[in-house]
Amino acid sequence: QVIDASDLWLLPGVIDSHVHFRDPGLTHKGDIESESKAALAGGVTSFIDMPNTIPPTTSIAALEEKRKTASEKAWTNFGFFLGATPDNLNELIQADNQRFAGIKIYYGSTTGNMMVNKEVVQKLMTSSNHLLVVHAEDDAVIQRNMASYREQFGEELPFSYHPMIRSVEACYKATSALVEMAMRHRSRLHIAHVSTANELALFDGSKPLAEKQITAETCVPYLWFDQRDYDRLGARLKSNPAIKSENDRKALLQALASNKIDTIATDHAPHLLDEKQGSYFNVPSGIPSVQYALPVMLELVRNGQVSIEKVLEKMCYAPATLFRIHRRGYIRKGFYADMVLVDPNNPWTISDETTLSKCRWSPFAGTQLHARITHTFVNGKIKFENGAVHDQRNGQALLFNVK
Ligand code: NCD
Ligand code: ZN
Ligand code: ZN
Repeated sequence: QVIDASDLWLLPGVIDSHVHFRDPGLTHKGDIESESKAALAGGVTSFIDMPNTIPPTTSIAALEEKRKTASEKAWTNFGFFLGATPDNLNELIQADNQRFAGIKIYYGSTTGNMMVNKEVVQKLMTSSNHLLVVHAEDDAVIQRNMASYREQFGEELPFSYHPMIRSVEACYKATSALVEMAMRHRSRLHIAHVSTANELALFDGSKPLAEKQITAETCVPYLWFDQRDYDRLGARLKSNPAIKSENDRKALLQALASNKIDTIATDHAPHLLDEKQGSYFNVPSGIPSVQYALPVMLELVRNGQVSIEKVLEKMCYAPATLFRIHRRGYIRKGFYADMVLVDPNNPWTISDETTLSKCRWSPFAGTQLHARITHTFVNGKIKFENGAVHDQRNGQALLFNVK
């Protein structure tokens, strides 16, 4: 097959290292088939899925079950995190670290009730050499903020208060404590979804990624939206940590350039639109974004807010380096290609109808973008072409921590 790629950009496939595909147990919101298809359409060729499913991925058996499901249903390459609980430490230590990306720690409350305390984190840092990926928000600060706002405003709190409840202070307090602990124990720590300017002071942009002990992720919604968007989007934008101010957003964009932020993921966290209706405290947190992450970042490139080199470094190269990803399917002197063809100047508007995620809505609906994904190649084969997916799935399990 010959593709006329004149005027198109050929980019490496995106590795989205933070998604919630909801499979098993929450498959009314999304499943590995539906969400990986949305990923494919967005130029994402590998995903790494979080453990807050039902059952949670906190045992080797649950991990193997997920890997089996994905090998039957994934449109892209795939990997998983194991989640920490107060009592699965031995299981985590024994697990073959090539079969999962790292250990996810919920140090802060969010979807799935998997929060653990400082003692558990400490134990993990002293006894495991797996990469620890942490959701960092100080729950005592959040509880205090909730109580004080409840007292002042009752249940009719507007969603624009979310950043004050899931505050800058809650993020900074948890992230600084974790960074300090990791330095003390010399353990590898990756802070998930960094959302504030303040936290950036805790990261070092001067070393190459492969030599860093402490690394940081931010996610596309924090680079695109800010506080002003709550007026328009309300609960749709409710996410933990909260999307914060314009100042925070700009600082995060700059931190890509200064290498204080190492990876960009999506934190794709679908909930049904029905579930996103209701009073502030009852609406679940999480935003679907996997399908539009790359086109949205390319729009920021077009607007001069970030360079194309940084986008590709943080979305493709850095996750591969950080999680030491390798693939099966080695051919002589290389690997089968995961690539994307992009038409950089072909304006279109995102809508719920263009959205392939099972939830069928997007916070980006109504946004006009210029870049379109025309082709996505997974393992050397065209799997997405001009709006259509191609016959058989060929996603493969990623291998992690390969030296
Ligand atoms: C995520 C979810 O819904 O699974 N929600 C969110 O607000 N980001 C969980 C998480 O990443 O904290
Ligand atoms: Zn989280
Ligand atoms: Zn998440």
